Amino acid sequence: MSRVALVTGGTRGIGAEISRHLKAAGRTVVASYAGNDAAAQAFAAETGIAVMKFDAGDFDACKGAIAEITEKFGPVEILVNNAGITRDATLAKMSRDMWDAVMDTNLGSCFNLCKLTFEGMREKKFGRIVNIGSINGQAGQYGQVNYAAAKSGIHGFTKALAQEGARFGITVNAVAPGYVDTDMVRAVPPDVLQKIIARIPMGRLGHADDIARGVAFLTADEADFITGSTMSINGGQHMY
Ligand code: CAA
Repeated sequence: MSRVALVTGGTRGIGAEISRHLKAAGRTVVASYAGNDAAAQAFAAETGIAVMKFDAGDFDACKGAIAEITEKFGPVEILVNNAGITRDATLAKMSRDMWDAVMDTNLGSCFNLCKLTFEGMREKKFGRIVNIGSINGQAGQYGQVNYAAAKSGIHGFTKALAQEGARFGITVNAVAPGYVDTDMVRAVPPDVLQKIIARIPMGRLGHADDIARGVAFLTADEADFITGSTMSINGGQHMY
Protein backbone atom coordinates (compact mmCIF):
# COMPACT_ATOMS: atom_id res chain seq x y z
CA MET A 1 0.00 0.00 0.00
CA SER A 2 1.09 3.50 -0.80
CA ARG A 3 2.57 5.28 2.21
CA VAL A 4 0.88 8.48 3.37
CA ALA A 5 3.06 11.60 3.27
CA LEU A 6 2.23 14.98 4.75
CA VAL A 7 4.12 18.02 3.44
CA THR A 8 3.45 21.22 5.36
CA GLY A 9 3.50 24.36 3.27
CA GLY A 10 3.25 21.85 0.45
CA THR A 11 1.33 23.83 -2.17
CA ARG A 12 3.86 26.55 -3.05
CA GLY A 13 7.59 27.06 -3.49
CA ILE A 14 9.93 24.34 -2.24
CA GLY A 15 7.04 22.48 -0.57
CA ALA A 16 5.08 22.17 -3.81
CA GLU A 17 8.08 20.61 -5.51
CA ILE A 18 8.55 18.21 -2.58
CA SER A 19 4.87 17.19 -2.84
CA ARG A 20 5.29 16.52 -6.57
CA HIS A 21 8.42 14.42 -6.04
CA LEU A 22 6.82 12.32 -3.30
CA LYS A 23 3.78 11.71 -5.47
CA ALA A 24 6.08 10.66 -8.31
CA ALA A 25 7.72 8.23 -5.85
CA GLY A 26 4.33 6.57 -5.36
CA ARG A 27 3.35 8.19 -2.06
CA THR A 28 -0.18 9.29 -1.16
CA VAL A 29 0.53 12.95 -0.56
CA VAL A 30 -1.38 15.52 1.48
CA ALA A 31 -0.09 19.08 1.09
CA SER A 32 -1.03 21.52 3.80
CA TYR A 33 -1.19 25.28 3.50
CA ALA A 34 -2.12 28.14 5.78
CA GLY A 35 -3.49 31.01 3.75
CA ASN A 36 -3.30 31.16 -0.03
CA ASP A 37 -6.49 29.38 -1.16
CA ALA A 38 -6.13 30.32 -4.83
CA ALA A 39 -2.59 28.88 -5.07
CA ALA A 40 -3.65 25.73 -3.21
CA GLN A 41 -6.66 25.10 -5.45
CA ALA A 42 -4.57 25.65 -8.58
CA PHE A 43 -1.92 23.26 -7.24
CA ALA A 44 -4.54 20.60 -6.42
CA ALA A 45 -6.14 20.91 -9.86
CA GLU A 46 -2.79 20.69 -11.62
CA THR A 47 -1.31 17.80 -9.64
CA GLY A 48 -4.27 15.84 -8.25
CA ILE A 49 -2.62 16.10 -4.81
CA ALA A 50 -4.96 16.51 -1.81
CA VAL A 51 -4.60 19.88 -0.10
CA MET A 52 -5.66 20.77 3.43
CA LYS A 53 -5.82 24.18 5.08
CA PHE A 54 -4.60 24.49 8.67
CA ASP A 55 -2.07 26.48 10.67
CA ALA A 56 0.90 24.17 11.34
CA GLY A 57 1.97 26.46 14.18
CA ASP A 58 -1.29 25.84 16.08
CA PHE A 59 -1.30 22.57 18.04
CA ASP A 60 -5.09 22.16 18.15
CA ALA A 61 -5.42 22.85 14.43
CA CYS A 62 -2.73 20.20 13.77
CA LYS A 63 -4.56 17.73 16.01
CA GLY A 64 -7.76 18.11 14.00
CA ALA A 65 -5.89 17.85 10.70
CA ILE A 66 -3.98 14.70 11.65
CA ALA A 67 -7.23 13.05 12.79
CA GLU A 68 -8.83 13.91 9.44
CA ILE A 69 -5.85 12.68 7.40
CA THR A 70 -5.73 9.44 9.38
CA GLU A 71 -9.41 8.81 8.80
CA LYS A 72 -9.35 9.64 5.07
CA PHE A 73 -5.98 8.23 4.02
CA GLY A 74 -4.45 6.32 6.95
CA PRO A 75 -1.68 7.17 9.42
CA VAL A 76 1.08 9.54 8.31
CA GLU A 77 4.28 7.58 7.73
CA ILE A 78 6.27 10.31 5.99
CA LEU A 79 6.30 13.80 7.45
CA VAL A 80 8.03 16.75 5.81
CA ASN A 81 8.05 19.80 8.06
CA ASN A 82 8.53 22.45 5.42
CA ALA A 83 6.14 25.25 6.47
CA GLY A 84 8.11 28.41 7.06
CA ILE A 85 7.80 32.17 7.04
CA THR A 86 10.15 35.13 7.32
CA ARG A 87 9.65 38.35 9.26
CA ASP A 88 13.05 39.88 8.57
CA ALA A 89 14.28 42.94 10.50
CA THR A 90 17.28 43.89 12.56
CA LEU A 91 16.81 43.16 16.26
CA ALA A 92 16.37 46.87 16.88
CA LYS A 93 13.29 46.88 14.64
CA MET A 94 11.96 43.40 15.41
CA SER A 95 8.78 43.21 17.50
CA ARG A 96 7.87 40.38 19.84
CA ASP A 97 5.10 39.44 17.38
CA MET A 98 7.65 39.01 14.58
CA TRP A 99 9.66 36.71 16.86
CA ASP A 100 6.64 34.67 17.94
CA ALA A 101 5.22 34.25 14.44
CA VAL A 102 8.47 32.81 13.09
CA MET A 103 9.10 30.58 16.11
CA ASP A 104 5.54 29.20 16.05
CA THR A 105 5.36 28.53 12.34
CA ASN A 106 8.90 27.38 11.66
CA LEU A 107 9.85 25.51 14.85
CA GLY A 108 6.59 25.03 16.78
CA SER A 109 5.12 23.26 13.76
CA CYS A 110 7.87 20.61 13.95
CA PHE A 111 6.95 19.87 17.55
CA ASN A 112 3.23 19.83 16.79
CA LEU A 113 3.32 17.46 13.86
CA CYS A 114 6.06 15.15 15.13
CA LYS A 115 4.24 14.89 18.45
CA LEU A 116 0.99 13.98 16.69
CA THR A 117 2.43 11.43 14.24
CA PHE A 118 5.34 9.84 16.11
CA GLU A 119 3.24 7.36 18.10
CA GLY A 120 1.66 5.99 14.91
CA MET A 121 5.11 5.63 13.32
CA ARG A 122 6.36 3.80 16.41
CA GLU A 123 3.47 1.35 16.16
CA LYS A 124 4.21 0.71 12.48
CA LYS A 125 7.95 0.46 13.16
CA PHE A 126 8.43 2.78 10.20
CA GLY A 127 8.69 6.52 9.81
CA ARG A 128 10.47 9.12 7.70
CA ILE A 129 10.65 12.66 9.05
CA VAL A 130 12.45 15.40 7.16
CA ASN A 131 12.63 18.86 8.68
CA ILE A 132 13.50 21.74 6.41
CA GLY A 133 16.20 23.81 8.09
CA SER A 134 18.23 26.53 6.40
CA ILE A 135 21.71 27.78 5.64
CA ASN A 136 20.69 30.73 7.79
CA GLY A 137 20.11 28.41 10.75
CA GLN A 138 23.61 27.03 10.23
CA ALA A 139 25.48 30.27 9.56
CA GLY A 140 23.21 33.05 10.86
CA GLN A 141 22.03 35.98 8.74
CA TYR A 142 21.89 39.71 9.31
CA GLY A 143 18.27 40.72 9.94
CA GLN A 144 17.07 37.23 10.89
CA VAL A 145 17.58 36.54 14.59
CA ASN A 146 14.09 35.02 14.67
CA TYR A 147 14.45 32.89 11.53
CA ALA A 148 18.05 31.84 12.28
CA ALA A 149 17.08 30.82 15.82
CA ALA A 150 14.06 28.83 14.63
CA LYS A 151 15.98 27.07 11.85
CA SER A 152 18.95 26.39 14.13
CA GLY A 153 16.41 24.96 16.58
CA ILE A 154 15.18 22.64 13.84
CA HIS A 155 18.69 21.25 13.42
CA GLY A 156 18.93 20.48 17.16
CA PHE A 157 15.38 19.10 17.25
CA THR A 158 16.25 16.77 14.38
CA LYS A 159 19.32 15.32 16.07
CA ALA A 160 17.47 14.78 19.36
CA LEU A 161 14.41 13.13 17.82
CA ALA A 162 16.59 10.96 15.58
CA GLN A 163 17.97 9.33 18.73
CA GLU A 164 14.45 8.62 19.99
CA GLY A 165 13.19 7.22 16.69
CA ALA A 166 16.07 4.96 15.67
CA ARG A 167 15.01 1.80 17.51
CA PHE A 168 11.52 2.07 16.03
CA GLY A 169 12.68 2.32 12.41
CA ILE A 170 11.92 6.04 12.30
CA THR A 171 14.55 8.21 10.63
CA VAL A 172 14.68 11.94 11.32
CA ASN A 173 16.82 14.13 9.08
CA ALA A 174 17.14 17.75 8.07
CA VAL A 175 17.63 19.36 4.71
CA ALA A 176 19.25 22.79 4.86
CA PRO A 177 18.52 24.75 1.69
CA GLY A 178 20.54 27.75 0.67
CA TYR A 179 18.94 30.60 -1.27
CA VAL A 180 16.33 29.07 -3.57
CA ASP A 181 14.38 30.86 -6.28
CA THR A 182 11.00 31.16 -4.51
CA ASP A 183 8.66 33.98 -3.45
CA MET A 184 10.39 34.04 -0.04
CA VAL A 185 13.81 34.80 -1.52
CA ARG A 186 12.38 37.15 -4.15
CA ALA A 187 11.16 39.28 -1.21
CA VAL A 188 14.79 40.04 -0.23
CA PRO A 189 15.76 43.55 -1.42
CA PRO A 190 17.36 43.16 -4.90
CA ASP A 191 20.66 44.84 -3.98
CA VAL A 192 21.03 42.58 -0.91
CA LEU A 193 20.14 39.50 -2.96
CA GLN A 194 22.71 40.33 -5.64
CA LYS A 195 25.43 40.42 -2.97
CA ILE A 196 24.25 37.06 -1.60
CA ILE A 197 24.27 35.43 -5.06
CA ALA A 198 27.80 36.75 -5.58
CA ARG A 199 28.86 34.62 -2.60
CA ILE A 200 27.39 31.36 -3.98
CA PRO A 201 30.19 29.34 -5.62
CA MET A 202 27.74 27.80 -8.10
CA GLY A 203 26.81 31.33 -9.14
CA ARG A 204 23.06 30.92 -9.03
CA LEU A 205 20.06 30.55 -6.76
CA GLY A 206 18.90 27.00 -6.10
CA HIS A 207 15.80 25.57 -7.76
CA ALA A 208 13.00 24.05 -5.67
CA ASP A 209 13.72 20.82 -7.51
CA ASP A 210 17.29 20.75 -6.11
CA ILE A 211 15.81 20.58 -2.61
CA ALA A 212 12.94 18.22 -3.41
CA ARG A 213 15.29 15.58 -4.77
CA GLY A 214 17.15 15.56 -1.46
CA VAL A 215 13.90 15.11 0.45
CA ALA A 216 12.77 12.29 -1.83
CA PHE A 217 16.11 10.54 -1.25
CA LEU A 218 15.83 10.80 2.54
CA THR A 219 12.22 9.59 2.61
CA ALA A 220 12.82 6.49 0.50
CA ASP A 221 12.14 3.18 2.23
CA GLU A 222 15.74 2.19 1.44
CA ALA A 223 17.20 5.23 3.29
CA ASP A 224 16.88 3.35 6.56
CA PHE A 225 20.43 3.86 7.85
CA ILE A 226 20.49 7.65 7.43
CA THR A 227 19.29 9.44 10.54
CA GLY A 228 20.18 12.59 12.44
CA SER A 229 21.93 13.98 9.39
CA THR A 230 21.74 17.36 7.72
CA MET A 231 21.84 17.50 3.94
CA SER A 232 23.07 20.96 2.93
CA ILE A 233 21.89 21.96 -0.54
CA ASN A 234 23.22 25.45 -1.10
CA GLY A 235 25.47 25.64 -4.17
CA GLY A 236 28.54 25.63 -1.91
CA GLN A 237 27.61 28.87 -0.12
CA HIS A 238 28.22 27.34 3.31
CA MET A 239 30.14 24.11 3.82
CA TYR A 240 29.12 22.69 7.15
N1 CAA B 1 26.18 42.74 7.27
C1 CAA B 1 26.53 43.89 7.88
N2 CAA B 1 25.84 45.03 7.77
C2 CAA B 1 24.72 44.98 7.02
C3 CAA B 1 24.28 43.80 6.38
C4 CAA B 1 25.07 42.65 6.53
N3 CAA B 1 24.75 41.48 5.94
N4 CAA B 1 23.14 44.06 5.72
C5 CAA B 1 22.87 45.37 5.96
N5 CAA B 1 23.82 45.92 6.73
C6 CAA B 1 23.91 47.29 7.22
C7 CAA B 1 23.53 48.25 6.10
O1 CAA B 1 24.66 48.50 5.30
C8 CAA B 1 23.07 49.45 6.87
O2 CAA B 1 24.20 50.16 7.34
P1 CAA B 1 24.19 51.75 7.34
O3 CAA B 1 23.04 52.16 8.21
O4 CAA B 1 25.52 52.09 7.90
O5 CAA B 1 24.02 52.15 5.91
C9 CAA B 1 22.42 48.86 8.10
O6 CAA B 1 22.92 47.51 8.21
C10 CAA B 1 20.91 48.80 7.96
O7 CAA B 1 20.64 48.01 6.80
P2 CAA B 1 19.32 48.16 6.00
O8 CAA B 1 19.16 49.56 5.49
O9 CAA B 1 19.24 47.05 5.01
O10 CAA B 1 18.24 47.97 7.16
P3 CAA B 1 16.76 47.73 6.96
O11 CAA B 1 16.15 47.86 8.30
O12 CAA B 1 16.20 48.56 5.86
O13 CAA B 1 16.68 46.20 6.42
C11 CAA B 1 16.86 43.88 6.53
C12 CAA B 1 17.28 45.20 7.17
C13 CAA B 1 15.36 43.72 6.56
C14 CAA B 1 17.49 42.77 7.34
C15 CAA B 1 17.34 43.81 5.06
O14 CAA B 1 18.72 44.09 5.00
C16 CAA B 1 17.09 42.46 4.46
O15 CAA B 1 16.00 42.13 4.07
N6 CAA B 1 18.15 41.63 4.35
C17 CAA B 1 18.03 40.28 3.78
C18 CAA B 1 17.87 39.28 4.88
C19 CAA B 1 17.88 37.89 4.26
O16 CAA B 1 18.85 37.46 3.66
N7 CAA B 1 16.78 37.18 4.40
C20 CAA B 1 16.71 35.87 3.83
C21 CAA B 1 15.30 35.63 3.36
S1 CAA B 1 15.15 34.12 2.42
C22 CAA B 1 15.29 32.93 3.57
O17 CAA B 1 15.37 33.14 4.73
C23 CAA B 1 15.28 31.52 3.02
C24 CAA B 1 16.43 30.77 3.48
O18 CAA B 1 16.28 29.89 4.30
C25 CAA B 1 17.76 31.05 2.90
